[in-house]
Amino acid sequence: MKKSLLVSIMFFLVLFLGMKGTGHKGRKGNHRYSDFETPETCGQCHKEIYREWKQTMMAQAYTHRWDEIEYFKLAVPHAERRPEFKESVEGCNGCHTPIAFFVGDRSPKPPSSGTRANESVSCEVCHTISGFNGEVPFNFNYIMKPGRVKYGPRQGVESPYHDTVKSDFLQSPEFCATCHNEKNSFGVWVKSTYFEWKQGPYSKEGVRCQDCHMWRGSGIVAEMSRAVKDMRHHSFPGGHVMAKIRGAIEVKVYTDQDEYEPGDEVKITVLLYNAKAGHKLPTGSVEDRQLWVEVHAVDSQGRRYIIPVDKKGFPGEKYTITSNELAYQDMGEMMGIKDFRGLPRDDLEEGHRIYRIAFLDPEGRMTVAQWNTASLGVDYRIAPRETKVETYTWEIPEEIPEGRVKIDVRVLYRLLVKSVARFLKVPEEEYRTWEINSAETYIEVY
Ligand code: HEC
Ligand code: HEC
Ligand code: HEC
Ligand code: HEC
Ligand code: HEC
Repeated sequence: MKKSLLVSIMFFLVLFLGMKGTGHKGRKGNHRYSDFETPETCGQCHKEIYREWKQTMMAQAYTHRWDEIEYFKLAVPHAERRPEFKESVEGCNGCHTPIAFFVGDRSPKPPSSGTRANESVSCEVCHTISGFNGEVPFNFNYIMKPGRVKYGPRQGVESPYHDTVKSDFLQSPEFCATCHNEKNSFGVWVKSTYFEWKQGPYSKEGVRCQDCHMWRGSGIVAEMSRAVKDMRHHSFPGGHVMAKIRGAIEVKVYTDQDEYEPGDEVKITVLLYNAKAGHKLPTGSVEDRQLWVEVHAVDSQGRRYIIPVDKKGFPGEKYTITSNELAYQDMGEMMGIKDFRGLPRDDLEEGHRIYRIAFLDPEGRMTVAQWNTASLGVDYRIAPRETKVETYTWEIPEEIPEGRVKIDVRVLYRLLVKSVARFLKVPEEEYRTWEINSAETYIEVY
């Protein structure tokens, strides 16, 4: 009796401990690289799809510069100094280069070594996944099994090279969610694109991730096979593609009057509408992304005046207004720099509204390291089809020249905080500022 009680306590203890953390320890690599086919092999027949995939971020998830820099300059050294992060840092590859992870290549060589880890999220990865373990899709809990079977969207297609099986799972948002939802070892959801979609209007209307990120159009699925009108194109455009992000937020501006005198207050209202994205904006790597709105007045002689946003007074609002106070001090620990003072938080003109969730390290300072995120700040992003209303109060300077004044509103986007990018020597094209929309209105000053 006593013994069985002890056994069941032990059992629950093991279960409990096993459920903590990211839970991939037990998933040893039972496979070898040679069990998986290369994307070039698939590309011999699936030429159009291969050419499209090759350009995507998923084809470069292990090799592209910012990924390489964050992993090798911050994450790996951090886990060497702090063993409690070892599991999280090995886990990066469960999503960024799944084959390397599953064959047990747990500290793959850098991209310049040209190993198979460079294949990143390849054809074999997605087309050998049949489902996921557990209740919720997250943290690479997909079930991947290499072999003759390739899962596809259609019934009864035949290939001379492999078997094909129709899979509903491949066509579901839950499939994407196995990598686009992530919880770190502090129990913080550091990526929640799928949950954002699920809570939003598109899930109710049956609009999947695939519908917006894998367009259907004419194409040849495989060389020598017939052309179809509804091929699933593998372009996967996201935040790195201007054509995808441009116009994702629509914007309008108006003032409370048409005419003013110097010294008067102008009340300005700006409306921002998430018209295009099926999730919040920004989503995914929210710790890196910057989406902000700049409002300026331009007088009749072309002089510019900054108009800071009115505060709303909600808790944690300071993270949603651009500031250059120092942040990211945790990089000092990761890189072994003593007394590292940090870097300017936003590296932007101060006082503008910025849409984000602040990622906070165990000491409550902002961080770009999602594995070192112990808590999140307020979620002030723009949900799908949500409209954010911002107001601005501008006292017209006494010395302003008479005439027409333009109220200039620009919606701006940057993939990575500039101060961090420059400090870590990330190439400039990975942190340039994009104007993704704009609006203007005019007032008269007498
Ligand atoms: C020797 C040529 C050849 C090679 C190599 C090849 N395939 Fe195919 N594959 C085909 C043909 C032909 C079809 C059927 C196309 C059709 O009829 O629409 C097909 C169908 C598929 C389908 C199912 C499409 C659907 O509509 O459901 C998937 C998925 C697929 N291939 C994935 C792969 C992957 C992944 C690789 C590499 C591991 C690969 N293929 C390598 C020729 C090839
Ligand atoms: C095996 C893991 C995995 C699966 C499954 C997966 N993704 Fe990804 N995806 C990634 C990773 C990792 C990246 C980040 C690439 C990088 O490093 O920039 C990414 C990036 C992207 C991007 C580009 C984001 C950007 O920054 O521009 C889009 C879009 C995307 N995925 C859409 C999808 C969709 C849609 C699905 C489902 C049909 C899907 N992904 C399934 C791992 C995955
Ligand atoms: C991130 C996951 C992902 C990657 C990487 C990926 N695919 Fe796909 N593929 C999908 C999904 C999802 C679908 C079905 C889309 C849908 O449901 O609309 C699909 C569909 C297909 C189809 C069927 C097209 C049709 O219209 O019949 C083929 C063939 C295919 N993929 C081959 C490939 C090849 C070859 C590669 C590599 C060059 C590749 N895929 C890379 C997720 C992926
Ligand atoms: C209604 C269309 C729509 C749907 C549905 C949709 N997306 Fe997006 N997605 C967009 C647009 C537009 C963007 C570009 C704006 C942005 O970066 O957020 C985008 C951007 C992204 C990015 C890049 C974010 C970044 O910062 O680089 C990823 C990753 C992504 N989507 C994944 C997904 C996944 C996973 C799903 C399903 C759970 C999904 N999307 C559903 C329209 C959609
Ligand atoms: C659960 C899957 C998953 C895990 C685990 C994961 N990532 Fe990612 N990572 C993604 C996805 C998906 C994206 C793309 C998000 C987007 O753009 O919206 C991404 C994006 C990134 C980016 C931004 C890429 C860019 O081009 O802007 C970096 C850098 C990165 N990951 C590094 C890491 C590191 C380092 C780790 C481990 C500490 C890690 N990731 C763990 C899925 C994952």
